[in-house]
Amino acid sequence: MSLPANEKPGARIVVPVALEGRSYDIHIGRHQLCEAAELVARLAPGAKAALVTDESVAGLHAPALETCLHQAGIAVTRIEIPPGEASKSYARFVALCDALLAAKIERNDLVIAFGGGVVGDLTGFAASVLRRGVRFVQMPTTLLSQVDSSVGGKTGINSSHGKNLIGAFHQPALVIADTALLDTLSEREFKAGYAEVVKYGLINDPAFFDWCEVNWSRIIAGGPERDHAVAVSCRAKAAIVARDEREEGDRALLNLGHTFAHALERLTGYDASRLVHGEAVSIGLALAFRFSQRLGLCSGQDAVRVSAHLDAIGLPSRLRQVPGGTGSADEIVAAMAQDKKVKRGVLTFILARGIGKSFIAPGVAADEVKGFIEAELAAA
Ligand code: GLY
Repeated sequence: MSLPANEKPGARIVVPVALEGRSYDIHIGRHQLCEAAELVARLAPGAKAALVTDESVAGLHAPALETCLHQAGIAVTRIEIPPGEASKSYARFVALCDALLAAKIERNDLVIAFGGGVVGDLTGFAASVLRRGVRFVQMPTTLLSQVDSSVGGKTGINSSHGKNLIGAFHQPALVIADTALLDTLSEREFKAGYAEVVKYGLINDPAFFDWCEVNWSRIIAGGPERDHAVAVSCRAKAAIVARDEREEGDRALLNLGHTFAHALERLTGYDASRLVHGEAVSIGLALAFRFSQRLGLCSGQDAVRVSAHLDAIGLPSRLRQVPGGTGSADEIVAAMAQDKKVKRGVLTFILARGIGKSFIAPGVAADEVKGFIEAELAAA
């Protein structure tokens, strides 16, 4: 495999996110905890930092990062939260804000989110309101958070009404994706994150999808292909976010597969033992392409190719693969209607005219969706 000339194996890749006064860089590479600490120190020389992390990441990586931060002249207070989606709650949000105040984090200080999507979303939201907004650094430790949730400034928590319904746009000041940290992920968690990597090929980059089909095992193995996949994903997301920071237009393309995925997560009670977000996205991507095929938009060949790639990796692509089942078509459609992408009761989907040809389809009839899901359930 040949990598682009500006991606030398082992060298750090820097991807800019161009947002005028809120611009920042994403640094991608292996073993860069001490480089990360230097970057943090450059951002806020002599500042205090709160290192927000979950108990699993803390056990594996926090002491090494803290040593680097101390060496770089940053005084750091660690704040640990329990791992898992349940931490994106009001109660945890309030407790985190109080802990940040107790750590005396001031406007000129920094909050560092060191963990997966839950840590990043919760910490970013707390940073957005603490003292009316403090700077925060994303140090994502899962594939999913490195290629998606750490970039673009979406922060928030869940409500009993649905996922991510309370939050704010608050861009990080810096993102550092140390791809060596992914070595300690479980195979299941790594593969779940891979669904978000494939998504970028399916949205608008068919050559990247072709490349993923050939190189996916090297991405998992952790060679330069992994860094390349993270970089391509971050560049794709950075380009969309630069055009449409607040999802008033084509940022919605990043939700390919997510209307189905959020409904499945809701129906499985956000129970990670049954379905994690990336697995739900994997099924959602396959469904989005089969739904597009049913609507006569996309060839059956492309829909099959998408499922075949997900299957090859060991990701789910069918409703029947949800442990414990999903409920009826009516229940799935009702769960979709809770999604915040619903405007005045009309479903908005991201559909595709082929691999790399996704588009926003507002006003998809609920009956059409229901008929499709009934057919999917019957095929099980
Ligand atoms: N994860 C979708 C977005 O950031 O817009």
